[in-house]
Amino acid sequence: MFSTELIEKFKSLPTPFYYYDLDLLERTLKTLQQYAHKYGYKIHYALKANANERILERIRNYGLGADCVSGNEVKRALEVGFPSQEIAFAGVGKADWEIELALRNNIFAFNCESIQELEVINEIARRLGKTAPVALRINPDVEANTHHYITTGKEENKFGIYITRLDEALEVLAGAENLRFMGLHFHIGSQITDLGVFKNLAEKVNDIQSHLQKKGWTPEHLNLGGGLGIDYQHPDGHSIPDFQGYFETIHRYLKPLPGQVVHFELGRSVVGQCGALITRVLYVKTGVRTRFAVVDAGMTELIRPALYHAYHKIENLTGNGPIQTYDVVGPICESSDFFGKAVELPEVHRGDLMAIRSTGAYAEVMASHYNLRDKAKAIYSDDL
Ligand code: LLP
Repeated sequence: MFSTELIEKFKSLPTPFYYYDLDLLERTLKTLQQYAHKYGYKIHYALKANANERILERIRNYGLGADCVSGNEVKRALEVGFPSQEIAFAGVGKADWEIELALRNNIFAFNCESIQELEVINEIARRLGKTAPVALRINPDVEANTHHYITTGKEENKFGIYITRLDEALEVLAGAENLRFMGLHFHIGSQITDLGVFKNLAEKVNDIQSHLQKKGWTPEHLNLGGGLGIDYQHPDGHSIPDFQGYFETIHRYLKPLPGQVVHFELGRSVVGQCGALITRVLYVKTGVRTRFAVVDAGMTELIRPALYHAYHKIENLTGNGPIQTYDVVGPICESSDFFGKAVELPEVHRGDLMAIRSTGAYAEVMASHYNLRDKAKAIYSDDL
């Protein structure tokens, strides 16, 4: 990802910053759409992964719709030009103003997560003289085999309507004059690398769909959410995720009804590999048993290692000495503020530049001001 020329350019820039390779993003989008179009699938990009405007513009230009989980994400999607009819709005706690905003803008569908939410949307739609398009987000009780903090489709998770309450939800829908039933929605977790999980999901969706049909309900669309993982270990070897295997698996096991459109909401797999967090080494210090490389980025710029013990590949971009082992840590006053433990790197010196890889998704969007830190800038390959 980093040529000597690019590293030279990095040297003059203030750190830390998020670097985005827009060329890789383009190639990822091209591959994604190539395989999605093969099966007629409609992709919505999940803004929560990265809502950076330059990135959103590229994504929109490739004809993806948007998947939003807050009123401000809906606003951002509209601002950068996603057509309102291609915006899905999910979220377990939609506030009244957010529902109103989405209704006024005639979005594609609300992915509803509880029976009470159906009642509230119906009420607000009635007040505005509108009919709200709704899909039911079903919690299918499928194991995602990923970190438990990013698992969403098990009965103990707060997301979606539990299958056991589906009939009740249908009754509410039947009696709600200002709701239009559009489809079924599922999202069982994130960073899923075992494609067998998607087979299980597709089979569960088939069962749920037959149940619905028996009761006389026909969804116009099925939305299988997001979740396809990326290879954090080998960001260069696997810079583009296995969209082919993913869609093939779904195509093989999912049984859509004739005319039914299948939607997806992908986030991480679209943007994850195109980003890297570039940071400078402030200090190298030797503890009792550990050697620390203290860098100028911290959990404020990338919280994933602290929050999920997530692995991100770390590279010393300017070092070429013998390999040593370091704990790479940030400046924040928390022991959980680390990027990697026992990382093998060419000998590190004050002033070295490091790249923390695969930070295109869930890094910049999850940044915080803790310790009153300034917000790190984004730098785009096109501008260098
Ligand atoms: N649709 C819904 C309803 C979601 O909740 C999510 C992610 C997505 C789509 C996109 O999933 P993806 O394709 O990106 O896996 N901060 C965590 C990830 C949280 C994911 C939240 N929901 C992390 O850094 O790993």
